[in-house]
Amino acid sequence: MKTQVAIIGAGPSGLLLGQLLHQAGIDTLILERQTPDYVLGRIRAGVLEQGTVDLLREAGVSARMDREGLVHEGVELLFGGRRQRLDLKALTGGKSVMVYGQTEVTRDLMQAREQSGAPIFYGVSNVQPHGLKDEQPYVTFEHEGQVQRVDCDYIAGCDGFHGVSRQSIPEGVLKQYERVYPFGWLGLLSDTPPVNHELIYAHHDRGFVLCSQRSATRSRYYLQVPLQERVEDWSDDRFWDELKARLPEEVAERLVTGPALEKSIAPLRSLVVEPMQYGHLFLVGDAAHIVPPTGAKGLNLAASDVNYLYRILLKVYREGRTDLLQRYSELALRRVWKGERFSWFMTQLLHDFGEHKDAWDQKMQEADREYFLNSPAGLVNIAENYVGLPYEAV
Ligand code: APR
Ligand code: PHB
Repeated sequence: MKTQVAIIGAGPSGLLLGQLLHQAGIDTLILERQTPDYVLGRIRAGVLEQGTVDLLREAGVSARMDREGLVHEGVELLFGGRRQRLDLKALTGGKSVMVYGQTEVTRDLMQAREQSGAPIFYGVSNVQPHGLKDEQPYVTFEHEGQVQRVDCDYIAGCDGFHGVSRQSIPEGVLKQYERVYPFGWLGLLSDTPPVNHELIYAHHDRGFVLCSQRSATRSRYYLQVPLQERVEDWSDDRFWDELKARLPEEVAERLVTGPALEKSIAPLRSLVVEPMQYGHLFLVGDAAHIVPPTGAKGLNLAASDVNYLYRILLKVYREGRTDLLQRYSELALRRVWKGERFSWFMTQLLHDFGEHKDAWDQKMQEADREYFLNSPAGLVNIAENYVGLPYEAV
C-alpha cells in the first residue's frame, strides 16, 4: 500500500488530521488498534476552545456540534463556599467555549471518515513505523492475520500516551518532563439535568469537585479522590452523598441524582516530551503530552497540534515548503507549554493537597486564590487561558 501521510491512532487527533488532509486532497491512511465502539466507549472531557471549534468547522464536521453543542459564556469558581462567576465573554473581549463531549467529536469525525471513503483500518496489531530518518519511511502492521506494509512520505503519531510512535524514537532523543499529583478524579456520567447552567469548579476541604455537563439532560461530575481509591468502592449513593457534602447548600439542594451511566477513576499527571518530531515522524496530541483535566485542555492541545501539522503539510504539498517541517515541534510546543502551565496552575489552585503540600506551598495556594480572584488582571488571566490562547500563523 501507498499513501502520503500514514496516521497511527484514530482518536480525535488522528481523525481530525485525517479529515483536514483528506479535504485538502492529501492522501492519508489511518491505523487504529481498537474497534470503533471501544474508541467511542472512552468518556473524556467536553469543553472546546474557540480555536478547536473553528478547526472542526474548517474540517466540515461541525454540523451536529453547532446544533447540539452548548455555548458557555461563563464558568464558576468556588472557594470556601464563595461562588465567583468568571464572565468569559466580558473578560476576553467576546470569546466563549463550547460544551460538546469528546466522544461526540470523535463520533462525528468517524462518520466523516467513513463517508469520505478514505482508508481506515480498525483492529490492527503490531503497528511499527520504520525508516523514520529515510526519504521513504513506511509502517508495517497486521490486519486480519496478514502482515501489511504502507509506504508514505510522513508518519503522524496520533496514538496517545501508550502508543508505539513515541516509543519508536531511539533512546536519548527525547527529553521528558513530568509532574504527578497525589490524587485522581472519580468521574460519574448520568442522565440527569446539570446542577448549574454553567460549569462549577469548586475547592473544598474534603477535596475538589467539578460539576460539568454534556447536555440539558446529561451531567458529568468529578470528585478528587486519593490515588489508591477503587471505583468498586464507590456506589452511586456514596458518590452523590460525597458530591453534596462538597457543594454549598444552595447548590447541593438543587442536585438531581440518578443511576451512573459510567464511573471511572483517572490519575492526574502532567507530561511533555521534546521534541515532537523525529525525522519523518511527528507526534501529535496525547502521544507527546498529557495534562491534568482541571483546565479542560487535553483535547484542545491535541487540536492545536493538528492545526500546526495540518497547515505545515498543506504548504509542503502545495508550495514545496519542506523547510517548514522542522518548525512543527517548536510551534506546537510553544502552545503546549502554555496549556501545561494553565492546567498545572488550575490543579494547584483548586485541589486539596493535604499533607502533600508543605506549609509554604499552602500559603502560596491561598495567596494565588486571593490574588487571582480579586484582581481584574487575575480574572482575565484565567479567562483568556480557559477560552484558549490564539494559534500562531504558520
Ligand atoms: N497502534 C494503533 N493505534 C494505537 C496504538 C498502536 N500501537 N496505540 C494506541 N493507539 C490508538 C488508541 O487506541 C487510541 O484510539 O491511538 C488512539 C489515541 O487516541 P487518544 O488517546 O484519544 O489521543 P489523541 O487522539 O491524541 O486525543 C487527545 O484524548 O486522551 C484524551 O485528554 C486527551 O482529550 C485528549 C485527547
Ligand atoms: C468534562 O465535562 O468531562 C470536563 C469538563 C471540564 C474539565 C474537565 C472535564 O476541566
